[in-house]
Amino acid sequence: MPHILVKSCKHNLNKEFEVGEYKFQKLAVSTQTTDCLIVVSFRDNEFVLIQKKNQNGTLIKLDKTTKVLPIDIIKNAIKCFASYHRLEILFSNIQTNKQQTTQHSSIVDMREFEQSKIFDKIQKKYKNISIEVGFGSGRHILHIATTNPDTMYIGVEIHTASIKQLDNQVAIQNIKNIIIVHCDARQLLSIVPDNYLGDIYVHFPVPWDDKPHRRVINSEFIGQSIRTLKKLGRLNLRTDSENYYISSKLLFDRYDNTNMKLNIDIDVSSKYEDRWKKMGKNIYDMTLINQNEDIFANRGYDFVFLDIINYKNVCDVIKTKKFLFEDHFLSFGVIYDIDKQTSIFALTMGAFDRPTKRYLLLKSGVLRYFQNKPIATHENIKAHKNLLKVLYDD
Ligand SMILES: C[S@@+](CC[C@H](N)C(=O)[O-])C[C@H]1O[C@@H](n2cnc3c(N)ncnc32)[C@H](O)[C@@H]1O
Repeated sequence: MPHILVKSCKHNLNKEFEVGEYKFQKLAVSTQTTDCLIVVSFRDNEFVLIQKKNQNGTLIKLDKTTKVLPIDIIKNAIKCFASYHRLEILFSNIQTNKQQTTQHSSIVDMREFEQSKIFDKIQKKYKNISIEVGFGSGRHILHIATTNPDTMYIGVEIHTASIKQLDNQVAIQNIKNIIIVHCDARQLLSIVPDNYLGDIYVHFPVPWDDKPHRRVINSEFIGQSIRTLKKLGRLNLRTDSENYYISSKLLFDRYDNTNMKLNIDIDVSSKYEDRWKKMGKNIYDMTLINQNEDIFANRGYDFVFLDIINYKNVCDVIKTKKFLFEDHFLSFGVIYDIDKQTSIFALTMGAFDRPTKRYLLLKSGVLRYFQNKPIATHENIKAHKNLLKVLYDD
């Protein structure tokens, strides 16, 4: 993550200013810590930088709740902020002098999937739509996309370098049927419409043999796969890990139609696969074929707050810190005050294994999610409903 360490930050907290296309809004100052949030807008994007004091100086970096943006936009924003305030930089990992990229990119922000009708648009254009989870070097997705131009492939990755690498290849090879999403595949899958996908590929997922609960394939993932796959759509797992194979088999076997193959070659072999084959390891292929047309819709859920609420009531709830429920939770963090009328509250919510971080903005008694609403997963919806209860029921 781009960041700078500066000597001291004695700049005027209340001043809004602009540098080029970057607009820096008022700082929100934490009442409990010395942290400050700096809200920045650039064209249609809004994001948050956080300023944190430590024993060496003051760190300025991207706040984690911010949506995924091209990294150069963030780097330039930090540089503009520092140069406007003439901050003395002690350390910086921002080397590039490049202006924000305007080059065509196939990377799509996760929230565009929720907010625009992108799922519908893709469906109108392509006969089939498939997802590859954790595409790594991208060899497999590039191969299937070039051999099946009628299918749109959505590649989901959490590793930034892999995302850049695939994005470059897509541009160089002028491939039109790959969309890249930088997020946890489980989050994306949870907002894919019902009966939408032809195939889900999970090739050589991280085995997590010491922490099996962290595996991408778990019962929730299988449930979401069944929901999002079309009838006869397939969830394809390819792994070198016997443990992963055994644990996934138990999950796959809950459904009627699964098959397993050992050591088969497919058209394209990934970097990992080459390595495992050289070591003489077994390669397990498992496919789950969806027999259902399951309907369970959670799209379109609007995360709104109903009534006017005052600062004290919100603070009273927040004092409790954590609310735990069977499969989800709400946990409150730092409060930032912008002025007497306006405050920002840090909130973590949703599923225990995929928590969502958001901010709540309270302005003149009106509460809303700041920057971006939570993704409409089942757990986030339940957490929001419980948030309404704890805020308004007493
Ligand atoms: C062992 S590599 C395999 C890469 C590629 N599929 C291959 O066969 O070479 C696993 C990949 O999954 C990605 N990954 C891990 N967890 C993920 C998640 N929850 N969502 C999306 N990608 C994930 C990792 O960043 C990594 O690139």
